[in-house]
Amino acid sequence: MSTASNLFAGQHVVVMGGSSGIGEATATAFAADGAEVVITGRDREKLDAAVARIGGKTSGARLDATDPAALAAFFTEAGTVDHLVVAVSGAAGSGPFAQLDLADLAHGFDAKFWPQVRVLQAALPHLRKDGSVTLITAASARAAFPGTAGLAAINGALEAMVPPLAVELAPLRINAVSPGVIDTPWWDRVPTEQRTALFDGLAATTPAGRVGRPEDVARAIHMFAANTFVTGVVLDCTGGANLPTGR
Ligand SMILES: NC(=O)c1ccc[n+]([C@@H]2O[C@H](COP(=O)([O-])OP(=O)(O)OC[C@H]3O[C@@H](n4cnc5c(N)ncnc54)[C@H](OP(=O)(O)O)[C@@H]3O)[C@@H](O)[C@H]2O)c1
Repeated sequence: MSTASNLFAGQHVVVMGGSSGIGEATATAFAADGAEVVITGRDREKLDAAVARIGGKTSGARLDATDPAALAAFFTEAGTVDHLVVAVSGAAGSGPFAQLDLADLAHGFDAKFWPQVRVLQAALPHLRKDGSVTLITAASARAAFPGTAGLAAINGALEAMVPPLAVELAPLRINAVSPGVIDTPWWDRVPTEQRTALFDGLAATTPAGRVGRPEDVARAIHMFAANTFVTGVVLDCTGGANLPTGR
């Protein structure tokens, strides 16, 4: 991503959900700057492949972030963590509201909202007092796209927690990145032709002229960890796709 430095030398970074996409790009950025990085995910093969791609002082821990006992055991083993990034994903809970299956919406909360909250709570006793936590939400939290009320609820709930947590848990810093559409394996569930059409259409109407890359979000997360005067912030990383045009 950038020229390697020793900015995070001797520091421990945990990226929950670091075996692909935004989490992997984030782990790569920290590892390039000297951090000892642990990435987690549920799939051993994916983890091993990502560790090999990331390089540096990186290791992989197989862990389901929805499992409280596994989280407690992981953090006890991990020792002091300087920076925590929570990139676990979920895709359930989208679709037109009139037909929205509430069990599917609950599943969306189970896959994204609760793991992020659980991970942070389990990590707290093990985080450096003035370290950092970065959550990953989504532009759907505030973008008013039709068919995303469920995703808005999940991600909006997370975003609402950031400012009060930044005050309550200080000097630990709590921030969130709110990405727009980013080309990651998250989109593999959409058939290629449909995905290409969607990405091309978005690129044409987005001020940045393209959809996002995982590295775009990784840069924002890297900044949150590095800049010790930033806390309580939810940063849009959307290429301007969600800016109100007044039209
Ligand atoms: N891509 C986008 O357009 C976009 C837009 C807005 C927000 N986001 C958010 O960005 C974050 C990262 O998404 P991404 O696009 O990078 O997705 P991704 O490529 O699918 O990566 C998700 C990562 O999380 C891991 N993971 C998922 N559930 C887990 C669980 N229960 N426990 C442990 N690890 C788990 C996955 O590995 P395993 O599956 O092997 O566990 C993988 O390493 C998510 O919160 C997503 O909602 C993405």
